[in-house]
Amino acid sequence: MAARAVGFLAALPLCAQRSQVLRPIHRLFSCPGTAAEVKREERSSGSLETGSEDKTPKKKFSEVQKERREQAQRTVLIHCPNKISEKKFLKYLSQHGPINNHFFYESFGLYAVVEFRQKESITSLQNVTRTPSMGTEAAIPFKSRFFNLKTKNPSNPTSEQSSVQCSIHSPPSSKKLLELLCYAESIDDQLNTLLKEFELTEENTKLRYLTCSLIEDIAAAYFLDCTVRPFGSSVNSFGKLGCDLDMFLDLDEIGKFSTNKTSGNFLMEFQVKNVPSERIATQKILSVIGECLDNFGPGCVGVQKILNARCPLVRFSHQASGFQCDLTTNNRIALKSSELLYIYGALDSRVRALAFSIRCWARAHSLTSSIPGSWITNFSLTLMVIFFLQRRSPPILPTLDYLKTLADAEDKCIIEGHNCTFVRDLNSIKPSGNTETLELLLKEFFEYFGNFAFNKNSINIRQGREQNKPESSPLHIQNPFETSLNISKNVSQSQLQKFVDLARESAWILNQEDKDRPSSSGSQPWGLAALLLPSVMNSVCLAKKVRKKPASERIKNLLESIKSSGSENATSTDGKRTVSTQA
Ligand code: CTP
Ligand code: MG
Repeated sequence: MAARAVGFLAALPLCAQRSQVLRPIHRLFSCPGTAAEVKREERSSGSLETGSEDKTPKKKFSEVQKERREQAQRTVLIHCPNKISEKKFLKYLSQHGPINNHFFYESFGLYAVVEFRQKESITSLQNVTRTPSMGTEAAIPFKSRFFNLKTKNPSNPTSEQSSVQCSIHSPPSSKKLLELLCYAESIDDQLNTLLKEFELTEENTKLRYLTCSLIEDIAAAYFLDCTVRPFGSSVNSFGKLGCDLDMFLDLDEIGKFSTNKTSGNFLMEFQVKNVPSERIATQKILSVIGECLDNFGPGCVGVQKILNARCPLVRFSHQASGFQCDLTTNNRIALKSSELLYIYGALDSRVRALAFSIRCWARAHSLTSSIPGSWITNFSLTLMVIFFLQRRSPPILPTLDYLKTLADAEDKCIIEGHNCTFVRDLNSIKPSGNTETLELLLKEFFEYFGNFAFNKNSINIRQGREQNKPESSPLHIQNPFETSLNISKNVSQSQLQKFVDLARESAWILNQEDKDRPSSSGSQPWGLAALLLPSVMNSVCLAKKVRKKPASERIKNLLESIKSSGSENATSTDGKRTVSTQA
């Protein structure tokens, strides 16, 4: 990765003259060593289901979930031969019923996601599918919706077996990202470009719902009528390509409808086993599902049961989709906070653009990590962005307490004694009159948190104002619903300090750029691109002490020093010269 970043730096003059570049830039990516021709499709975000930019009515979170879930139930996943005729493939599958849509993607092989118009088509397909004979090994028969397609005559490929177009499911490389940012026309444009490149695509969203639906089929072998729902960044509209897939095994629906329908003098209940506590029940359920995924789940590998965590979970990789999955149960409040974030993300187009940039900035500087530890999480960063936008004048986002006042009787929601009520109809929330640019907001975000009194204040999106910290953790961000919990309890003082230092440095870079920005040349990383470059904290301190150099000169010096030190140095293990674009 570091070598890539340096490669980009050396090639920078090529992306000069940003103001003269016409948009849109058509992006064609090739995927070396793979059979399929890969096309980066125009982003049609799966998370922008709210019509936030236009006047069309915005869908409720529950409506989106229902629609997607129902689509996923009519969908199958097929591992295909590397060379395949798309036409013949579709003709073959159409024998089982009409197909609504399909797409191909690559993940250690070629896969197709096919959505039928009717559920019955899947039964029809399953009825003509055989369990493979494995030679010396034994196959565990499992009638799932995950298939393997084989050509009957593989040694005789016909001319019709051509490459298919694949959708992309990973974020752009750091080199490509920086290049795109250099081409942008303004900092606002840069933030929107980054959002477009990183947000979940329609295909990626479909694959996430399908993966949950496949896991639900497995869990249903034990718990008939259970539901597996995605939550977290897969559905809250803040997910970056490559983010994990958080799943919630919902057992509450089981037997729900029969309770009220019983008539007469009797009440019928299921015979059940009792355990001493809700937590033990959760652990037992997840333990058995973990075993099941490990032993019988097609494509589920690396299953880990993490049952002693505050929120017990089963972690595994779903090989075919490439998703790292966290399966929890009894975690309904997290589902509610996903809905709340979805609403905030849909209220104003600046929210997601700013949050994505802050999340990428944090990742580029190793402030966040995919490994659990004392770092800030993406969830915390998103709440910080929301809080900051609530603090603008006039506010860009309403407080959670205000959203509660707009709620009607149907919105009322109490989970485990916590009041999770807020208005769910996006159309009844008035848009903000604030017209600040993204450029200003980005700069002000860094200034705000670069000077925030973290030692005494807590971040609280319920009230939209700082409050005295109730405990001594370095960073205190109140959980919006379980208000006694701090969602950033894990963050150490040194990680918080690193965040503050980098925020100050970034505010400084943007302020300097304001003064020195070249009028028509994009030969150096500027704006957001400059913020994603390796930290120059030390040189900033030095520059402040000696004399303030213009940002452009400072960055130029940095580029020179990186170039002259060669790529071996650039790949040093400290990770500081890497612009990481992973989630
Ligand atoms: N969550 C929470 N309290 C926490 C951590 C997580 O309530 N301390 C909930 C949030 O709803 C969060 C979800 O669990 O969105 C999933 O957590 P996580 O995967 O850590 O965050 P994501 O928002 O999914 O972000 P990422 O893209 O990093 O996965
Ligand atoms: Mg997540």
